Amino acid sequence: MALRHFLTLRDLSSAELERIISRAQELKKLQHSHQTYQPFIGKVLGMIFEKSSTRTRVSFEAGMSQLGGSAIFLSSRDTQLGRGEPIEDSARVISSMLDIVMIRTFGHDIVERFASYSKVPVINALTDDHHPCQLLADIQTFVEHRGSIQGKTVAWIGDGNNMCNSYIEAAHMWGFKLKIASPKGYEPQERFLTEYAHCAEVVASAEDAAVNADLIVTDVWASMGQEEEQKIREKAFANYQVNENLMQLAHSDCLFMHCLPAHRGEEISEHMLEHKNAVVWDEAENRLHAQKALIEFLLKEQQKT
Ligand code: CP
Ligand code: NVA
Repeated sequence: MALRHFLTLRDLSSAELERIISRAQELKKLQHSHQTYQPFIGKVLGMIFEKSSTRTRVSFEAGMSQLGGSAIFLSSRDTQLGRGEPIEDSARVISSMLDIVMIRTFGHDIVERFASYSKVPVINALTDDHHPCQLLADIQTFVEHRGSIQGKTVAWIGDGNNMCNSYIEAAHMWGFKLKIASPKGYEPQERFLTEYAHCAEVVASAEDAAVNADLIVTDVWASMGQEEEQKIREKAFANYQVNENLMQLAHSDCLFMHCLPAHRGEEISEHMLEHKNAVVWDEAENRLHAQKALIEFLLKEQQKT
């Protein structure tokens, strides 16, 4: 039995990631043509949430159900996790009853500790440091609209946060160039920039990042857990809005993505989600298909002897 986890993109090889993206497109076709595909009847996914979610919760729960299984929503507000039961004890108990687990939490060490005590595959559904599931959907979306992302130029505009870190790893795994524009003091952590200097670089301004980009991506200025920094961040990020003028600097077919939820008037202009090159709704839908492909991959790996 090969126990595989998906805590960051680096847990899979580039070839495995490619397979998941093409499988996601096949599963999307099946779903759109109303064909039933239920290889995981009786399998149960645990969904541990210590932060809020719309897309992640709906896509995992619907996806597992479409694959023939079911999902249990476990909020830290009403499980013993929220009352201090150690993550290691929770991992041993939960993984003895379920077939696969996803976790959305704060510190990245929490998913690592859970995984090291888990008997079943663990998926990172967002930590303070990474959001790898979103990258599966983003890459699938790029591929569907523009073909391979290898060799392309991607501009990350805004906070050097969990999404940005996963974009840095994605640049390495899929072979694209990432230009990052963040206000001073909000750049990604040095350890990511050093390790991935061959594919990711910080540039001086949002405009510098946007020039010649094939994809422009942004995210909220204050992530979950940083709500009290909202006001100070609004000032710091004022020159880092993705808007129609910024899109003009990029290639004419440059796509725009945002993992959502979006704050109009802050990281994006009022009508940016309606821009002709915005693909945010496909991107959101692809969470479903990409994660179904991921669940299938991890469960099949585990069935291998
Ligand atoms: N993009 C994303 O992860 O959305 P949710 O926070 O709604 O799950
Ligand atoms: N960076 C954001 C992403 C939300 C999907 C956050 O962590 O809140």
